[in-house]
Amino acid sequence: QNIILIGPPGSGKGTQAPQIKEDLCLCHLATGDMLRDAVSQGTELGKQAKEIMDRGDLVSDEIVIGLIDAAMNEPRCERGLLLDGFPRTEVQAEKLDSMLFHKDKKIDKVLEFKVDDDILIERIEGRRVHVASGRSYHVKFNPPKVEGVDDQTGEPLIQRKDDNAEVLRKRMTAYHDQTSPILNYYRNKNILYTINAMAAIDQVQQQIHESIYNKI
Ligand code: AP5
Ligand code: ZN
Repeated sequence: QNIILIGPPGSGKGTQAPQIKEDLCLCHLATGDMLRDAVSQGTELGKQAKEIMDRGDLVSDEIVIGLIDAAMNEPRCERGLLLDGFPRTEVQAEKLDSMLFHKDKKIDKVLEFKVDDDILIERIEGRRVHVASGRSYHVKFNPPKVEGVDDQTGEPLIQRKDDNAEVLRKRMTAYHDQTSPILNYYRNKNILYTINAMAAIDQVQQQIHESIYNKI
């Protein structure tokens, strides 16, 4: 299966991805994580992306399509893709379809993480992340076992540079203007499943499970 997770910043895509990945044996490709990796390694691409990400705008379609194209061809991605944070524009959505088409593949399901805008600020401000793995925690809603430390590696957690009220506003505008229009693209293909992502983490997980295994 190839599955896409779409939702505004802080809607829970990265929180739910590891379980879906494990259940279906998919390859989790999160363009935000890939870009943050490039930034922390100081690559040329990372240098280009850093400023754009820090101010909450979308990086160019060309850059993210290049990242996905390269990752899709890795052997670990043979079994299926779990796309998190990609596609985010109409150009990306169409390009993804044509890349898959050339491999005789297609997108099977798109899960929309639906939340009201006003709950996102608390999620974003309380988030702490383990950069190397992309795992995210929340000081109140999903705290690590030991404060400030990743459960699996014992390494420190940090706050993302774009996780503040001002940049969040920009990221939400980008979502509403550029990303949410592609929901219709998938609705018209009859593969869009809407999840109430305002529920508690385990209830969101349950809804995802249902939409993946039962054909609702
Ligand atoms: P990206 O990393 O994709 O950020 P985003 O889309 O803004 O999404 P987030 O990672 O902020 O949210 P999430 O849904 O993963 O939430 P999480 O599960 O962590 O992109 C960053 C930047 O990279 C972009 O701004 C752009 O510049 C660039 N970029 C990336 N992809 C691009 C693309 N395709 N094209 C162009 N540019 C691109 O949860 C958030 C918090 O809430 C956590 O603390 C979590 O513990 C908590 N939480 C989760 N679920 C619940 C729940 N049900 N109840 C209570 N708390 C919860
Ligand atoms: Zn994320």
